Amino acid sequence: EKGGYKHFMLKEIHEQPRAIADTIRGRVLPDGSEVVYKELGIRFEELALTRKIYLVACGTSYHACLIGKYMIENIAKTPVETDIASEFRYRNVPFEQDSLFIAITQSGETADTLAALRFAKKSGVKTLAICNVVGSTASREADGVFYTHSGPEIGVASTKAFTTQIVALYLLTLALAKAKGLLVEQSYISFLRNLLMLPRMAEEALKLENRIQQLAKEVYRKPNFLYLGRGLCYPVALEGALKLKEISYIHAEGYAAGEMKHGPIALVEEGFPVVFIVSDDFYLDKTLSNMEEIKARDGFIITISDSKKEKLKKLSDRFIYVEGIHTYLNTVLFSIPLQLLAYHVAVLRGCDVDQPRNLAKSVTVE
Ligand code: M6R
Repeated sequence: EKGGYKHFMLKEIHEQPRAIADTIRGRVLPDGSEVVYKELGIRFEELALTRKIYLVACGTSYHACLIGKYMIENIAKTPVETDIASEFRYRNVPFEQDSLFIAITQSGETADTLAALRFAKKSGVKTLAICNVVGSTASREADGVFYTHSGPEIGVASTKAFTTQIVALYLLTLALAKAKGLLVEQSYISFLRNLLMLPRMAEEALKLENRIQQLAKEVYRKPNFLYLGRGLCYPVALEGALKLKEISYIHAEGYAAGEMKHGPIALVEEGFPVVFIVSDDFYLDKTLSNMEEIKARDGFIITISDSKKEKLKKLSDRFIYVEGIHTYLNTVLFSIPLQLLAYHVAVLRGCDVDQPRNLAKSVTVE
């Protein structure tokens, strides 16, 4: 049942190219020209009028919300509020008119996420669930459901569910931008073409496994890790840290690289591992200056990037080059080596990777 893999988590990491392809299939016409909206349960005209989006979830799914915020605000020019479901449900949010509430949940059964969804519905807001489990509570209760077709995820640590949530958000962003008349045909098609490259590029990212395994051998005894990134790489850093802590029990923190100076840098001393996630985009130079500060304190810099900039390589103690597509979809590609790093570190530490202590696959109590 593990298809020859030692753990479900490893199998699920390797299933990502297929899971992503399945999530795209049927949503993009074969010529790459159109996203299918019908299943959203929201009319094209209604989508065009959306003035605000709420993205709410727990854990890894919340990190997908943060990625969604960057995508939707940048491409579809619609303000997005993100929140953790356990906070959102009790905040008595005064919803703005013409809002859309989106719950992201792999299982569709997370208690806090369901409570937040019910609160939004009761408030008269249109609701949508981005969900993996067909027929789950969230999928039945929301006005519309957009399924990620990642297949069953058994490992407690979310992997393919997360990357397919990003794909779903990307498709939704394009649908919204198109409905609002914000995308000229040409850029719309190029966004979709990029997406169609993703399964193959995810396959490429998986080929980094041997290198990551070697890296894991170097660092698995470290007691603390810091993960840093800016822009879309910030939520990827949060997710990388969550993956490591939940399965290896190593203390790991994810931070926006720009926040580093406001506290976490106090932790850095010789050999302290700092994982930088760096996309070859607008933020690159800014992140480089954060790296210099870590370097000056003799931290051990591990870089995950699609940039080949000399300075970036020079500042890195270990440099993992990941072939990128574009800053939005690089979130998926960079997540793969981070999942593999967490996995191999946890295995070296003798941890129960698929069923980490104190955790359940779906948290059905608050
Ligand atoms: O099923 P959901 O997406 O609602 O689950 C949310 C979280 O419980 C889940 O993502 C959790 O954080 C995972 N263990 C992370 O790997």
